[in-house]
Amino acid sequence: MSNKVLVAYATKMGSTGTMAAVIGSELRAAGHQVDVHEIGAVLAVSEYDAVIVGSAIYQGRWRPEAVRFLRDHERQLRNRRVWLFHSGPIGRSKSQDQPTPPDVARLARLIEAAPVKTFAGELQADAITERLSRRAELDHLIGDSRDWPKIRAWSREVATALQTARVQP
Ligand SMILES: Cc1cc2nc3c(=O)[nH]c(=O)nc-3n(C[C@H](O)[C@H](O)[C@H](O)COP(=O)(O)O)c2cc1C
Repeated sequence: MSNKVLVAYATKMGSTGTMAAVIGSELRAAGHQVDVHEIGAVLAVSEYDAVIVGSAIYQGRWRPEAVRFLRDHERQLRNRRVWLFHSGPIGRSKSQDQPTPPDVARLARLIEAAPVKTFAGELQADAITERLSRRAELDHLIGDSRDWPKIRAWSREVATALQTARVQP
């Protein structure tokens, strides 16, 4: 069964966008029709059977445009299959699942989305401003911790789940 799937992502420095593109390629390879869009560019979800929403985490929170998207499209998303992921942990905590911010958790419950998946992120040198490097000494965290096999494996799980009809409660 081929589904029309939207992968919508929110990013500040770009690395979550590349993850979304990889997720989209895996779903396409499994036979689904997929659009990958920066979340601010998505006006409607009505044409999609399923929606994957991903956001970078900053200071424990999702990007505001991703939270706004969940809130604005909550009713429509309730009637679709929805998966959520966030990208963030870097350095020593790169393997640790990150807590879902309370506003996102509340919306995820309303939408009946699957539990949020954590993927390790990437910290680019450009993100370290003078102010930040003095404040948080982030320099040693610069690098790409994104785990492509893990991202691809999860995408394939989603693709397989989409092959089966949704069980109506
Ligand atoms: C100022 C700052 C704050 C961050 N806060 C968090 C955080 O609270 N939790 C987390 O897991 N990652 C945090 N990160 C790491 C980013 O989420 C990671 O670099 C992510 O991959 C960036 O995604 P993007 O390139 O799509 O914007 C932070 C990074 C910066 C620069």
